[in-house]
Amino acid sequence: MIKTMECLDQARAAALRQLAGYDCRILVCSGTGCIATGSNKIFDILEGLVKEAPGVELVFSPCGGDHGDKAVGVKKTGCQGFCELGPLVRISKGDRVIQYVKVQPEDCQEIVEKSVLGDEIIERLLYHKGEQSYVQPDEIPFIAKQTRIVLENCGRFDAESLDEYLAAGGFEALKRRSPWAVRP
Ligand code: FES
Repeated sequence: MIKTMECLDQARAAALRQLAGYDCRILVCSGTGCIATGSNKIFDILEGLVKEAPGVELVFSPCGGDHGDKAVGVKKTGCQGFCELGPLVRISKGDRVIQYVKVQPEDCQEIVEKSVLGDEIIERLLYHKGEQSYVQPDEIPFIAKQTRIVLENCGRFDAESLDEYLAAGGFEALKRRSPWAVRP
Protein backbone atom coordinates (compact mmCIF):
# COMPACT_ATOMS: atom_id res chain seq x y z
CA MET A 1 0.00 0.00 0.00
CA ILE A 2 1.30 3.47 -0.85
CA LYS A 3 1.30 5.62 2.29
CA THR A 4 4.26 7.95 1.87
CA MET A 5 6.03 9.86 -0.85
CA GLU A 6 8.90 7.38 -0.59
CA CYS A 7 6.49 4.51 -1.22
CA LEU A 8 5.08 6.38 -4.20
CA ASP A 9 8.56 6.90 -5.63
CA GLN A 10 9.43 3.23 -5.10
CA ALA A 11 6.18 2.11 -6.73
CA ARG A 12 6.85 4.37 -9.69
CA ALA A 13 10.41 3.09 -10.07
CA ALA A 14 9.11 -0.49 -10.04
CA ALA A 15 6.43 0.40 -12.59
CA LEU A 16 9.03 1.99 -14.88
CA ARG A 17 11.19 -1.15 -14.61
CA GLN A 18 8.19 -3.25 -15.60
CA LEU A 19 7.49 -1.04 -18.58
CA ALA A 20 11.11 -1.24 -19.69
CA GLY A 21 10.91 -5.06 -19.48
CA TYR A 22 8.62 -5.32 -22.49
CA ASP A 23 10.22 -6.06 -25.83
CA CYS A 24 7.05 -4.87 -27.48
CA ARG A 25 3.69 -3.50 -26.43
CA ILE A 26 0.77 -3.70 -28.82
CA LEU A 27 -1.51 -0.82 -27.92
CA VAL A 28 -5.03 -1.28 -29.25
CA CYS A 29 -7.22 1.81 -29.06
CA SER A 30 -10.27 1.01 -26.99
CA GLY A 31 -11.91 4.40 -26.99
CA THR A 32 -15.57 4.44 -27.98
CA GLY A 33 -14.84 5.45 -31.57
CA CYS A 34 -12.51 2.53 -32.18
CA ILE A 35 -14.71 0.06 -30.32
CA ALA A 36 -17.49 1.10 -32.69
CA THR A 37 -15.29 0.19 -35.65
CA GLY A 38 -14.25 -3.17 -34.22
CA SER A 39 -11.20 -2.69 -32.00
CA ASN A 40 -12.34 -5.28 -29.43
CA LYS A 41 -12.17 -7.92 -32.13
CA ILE A 42 -8.75 -6.65 -33.20
CA PHE A 43 -7.57 -6.90 -29.59
CA ASP A 44 -8.79 -10.49 -29.26
CA ILE A 45 -7.16 -11.55 -32.53
CA LEU A 46 -3.83 -9.91 -31.69
CA GLU A 47 -3.84 -11.41 -28.21
CA GLY A 48 -4.53 -14.87 -29.65
CA LEU A 49 -1.78 -14.52 -32.26
CA VAL A 50 0.78 -13.42 -29.66
CA LYS A 51 -0.18 -16.33 -27.39
CA GLU A 52 0.51 -18.76 -30.22
CA ALA A 53 3.68 -17.12 -31.57
CA PRO A 54 6.80 -19.24 -31.03
CA GLY A 55 9.50 -17.72 -28.83
CA VAL A 56 7.09 -15.16 -27.44
CA GLU A 57 5.37 -14.89 -24.13
CA LEU A 58 2.22 -12.83 -23.75
CA VAL A 59 2.77 -11.01 -20.49
CA PHE A 60 0.61 -8.83 -18.32
CA SER A 61 3.65 -7.53 -16.52
CA PRO A 62 7.20 -8.53 -17.50
CA CYS A 63 8.74 -8.48 -14.00
CA GLY A 64 9.31 -11.66 -12.06
CA GLY A 65 8.59 -14.12 -14.83
CA ASP A 66 10.62 -16.47 -16.95
CA HIS A 67 9.76 -15.26 -20.42
CA GLY A 68 10.49 -16.56 -23.87
CA ASP A 69 12.62 -14.70 -26.35
CA LYS A 70 10.28 -11.75 -26.39
CA ALA A 71 8.01 -10.34 -23.69
CA VAL A 72 5.02 -8.90 -25.54
CA GLY A 73 2.04 -7.17 -24.00
CA VAL A 74 -1.28 -6.59 -25.73
CA LYS A 75 -2.93 -3.59 -24.10
CA LYS A 76 -6.11 -1.57 -24.36
CA THR A 77 -5.59 2.18 -24.39
CA GLY A 78 -7.85 5.19 -24.29
CA CYS A 79 -8.48 7.25 -27.43
CA GLN A 80 -5.35 7.53 -29.57
CA GLY A 81 -6.63 10.77 -31.04
CA PHE A 82 -7.79 10.00 -34.57
CA CYS A 83 -11.19 8.33 -34.11
CA GLU A 84 -12.30 8.59 -37.73
CA LEU A 85 -9.41 6.29 -38.74
CA GLY A 86 -10.17 3.48 -36.30
CA PRO A 87 -9.46 0.87 -35.30
CA LEU A 88 -6.06 2.30 -34.38
CA VAL A 89 -3.15 0.13 -33.20
CA ARG A 90 0.27 1.24 -32.00
CA ILE A 91 3.33 -0.99 -31.92
CA SER A 92 5.61 0.29 -29.19
CA LYS A 93 9.23 -0.86 -28.78
CA GLY A 94 11.00 1.42 -26.34
CA ASP A 95 10.90 4.91 -27.81
CA ARG A 96 9.92 3.66 -31.24
CA VAL A 97 6.21 3.73 -31.99
CA ILE A 98 4.40 2.78 -35.17
CA GLN A 99 0.87 4.07 -35.58
CA TYR A 100 -1.39 1.91 -37.71
CA VAL A 101 -4.84 3.06 -38.76
CA LYS A 102 -7.97 1.33 -40.03
CA VAL A 103 -6.67 -2.04 -38.90
CA GLN A 104 -8.82 -4.93 -40.03
CA PRO A 105 -8.90 -8.51 -38.71
CA GLU A 106 -7.08 -9.77 -41.80
CA ASP A 107 -4.18 -7.37 -41.08
CA CYS A 108 -3.42 -8.77 -37.62
CA GLN A 109 -1.27 -11.75 -38.61
CA GLU A 110 0.91 -9.54 -40.79
CA ILE A 111 1.27 -6.99 -37.99
CA VAL A 112 2.47 -9.66 -35.56
CA GLU A 113 4.84 -11.26 -38.06
CA LYS A 114 6.34 -8.09 -39.51
CA SER A 115 6.13 -5.42 -36.84
CA VAL A 116 5.98 -7.33 -33.53
CA LEU A 117 8.29 -10.28 -34.22
CA GLY A 118 10.17 -8.39 -36.91
CA ASP A 119 11.01 -4.72 -37.30
CA GLU A 120 9.19 -3.98 -40.53
CA ILE A 121 6.70 -1.23 -41.10
CA ILE A 122 3.58 -2.06 -43.08
CA GLU A 123 3.28 0.94 -45.32
CA ARG A 124 -0.35 0.51 -46.31
CA LEU A 125 -1.50 0.64 -42.67
CA LEU A 126 0.20 3.97 -41.94
CA TYR A 127 -1.65 7.25 -42.04
CA HIS A 128 -1.23 8.86 -45.44
CA LYS A 129 -1.74 12.45 -46.46
CA GLY A 130 -1.08 13.06 -50.13
CA GLU A 131 2.16 11.32 -51.00
CA GLN A 132 3.39 11.42 -47.43
CA SER A 133 3.04 8.61 -44.90
CA TYR A 134 3.60 8.97 -41.17
CA VAL A 135 5.06 6.34 -38.84
CA GLN A 136 5.06 8.01 -35.43
CA PRO A 137 1.71 9.23 -34.12
CA ASP A 138 3.17 12.57 -33.03
CA GLU A 139 4.26 13.26 -36.62
CA ILE A 140 0.71 13.13 -38.00
CA PRO A 141 -0.11 16.79 -38.72
CA PHE A 142 -3.56 16.66 -37.07
CA ILE A 143 -1.93 15.40 -33.85
CA ALA A 144 1.30 17.41 -34.14
CA LYS A 145 -0.66 20.66 -34.01
CA GLN A 146 -2.25 19.76 -30.69
CA THR A 147 -0.95 20.53 -27.23
CA ARG A 148 -2.56 17.94 -25.04
CA ILE A 149 -2.71 18.69 -21.35
CA VAL A 150 -5.21 16.52 -19.49
CA LEU A 151 -5.11 13.87 -22.22
CA GLU A 152 -1.35 14.04 -22.75
CA ASN A 153 -0.81 10.33 -22.08
CA CYS A 154 -4.04 9.04 -23.54
CA GLY A 155 -3.29 6.28 -26.04
CA ARG A 156 0.22 5.69 -24.71
CA PHE A 157 -0.53 3.47 -21.75
CA ASP A 158 -2.77 0.61 -20.70
CA ALA A 159 -5.94 2.33 -19.55
CA GLU A 160 -6.67 -0.48 -17.09
CA SER A 161 -3.25 -0.72 -15.45
CA LEU A 162 -2.44 1.10 -12.23
CA ASP A 163 1.24 0.29 -12.76
CA GLU A 164 1.27 2.00 -16.15
CA TYR A 165 -0.56 4.96 -14.61
CA LEU A 166 2.18 5.17 -12.00
CA ALA A 167 4.88 4.87 -14.66
CA ALA A 168 3.29 7.79 -16.49
CA GLY A 169 3.53 9.98 -13.38
CA GLY A 170 0.16 9.18 -11.84
CA PHE A 171 -0.51 10.52 -8.33
CA GLU A 172 2.40 12.94 -8.67
CA ALA A 173 0.10 15.83 -7.81
CA LEU A 174 -0.44 14.35 -4.34
CA LYS A 175 3.09 15.39 -3.47
CA ARG A 176 2.04 18.99 -3.74
CA ARG A 177 -0.63 18.60 -1.05
CA SER A 178 0.77 19.47 2.35
CA PRO A 179 -1.24 16.87 4.35
CA TRP A 180 0.36 14.16 2.19
CA ALA A 181 3.80 15.68 2.56
CA VAL A 182 3.80 15.56 6.38
CA ARG A 183 2.43 12.02 6.72
CA PRO A 184 4.87 9.57 8.31
S1 FES B 1 -11.43 6.11 -30.07
FE1 FES B 1 -9.67 5.32 -31.09
S2 FES B 1 -8.73 7.09 -31.84
FE2 FES B 1 -10.38 7.88 -30.71
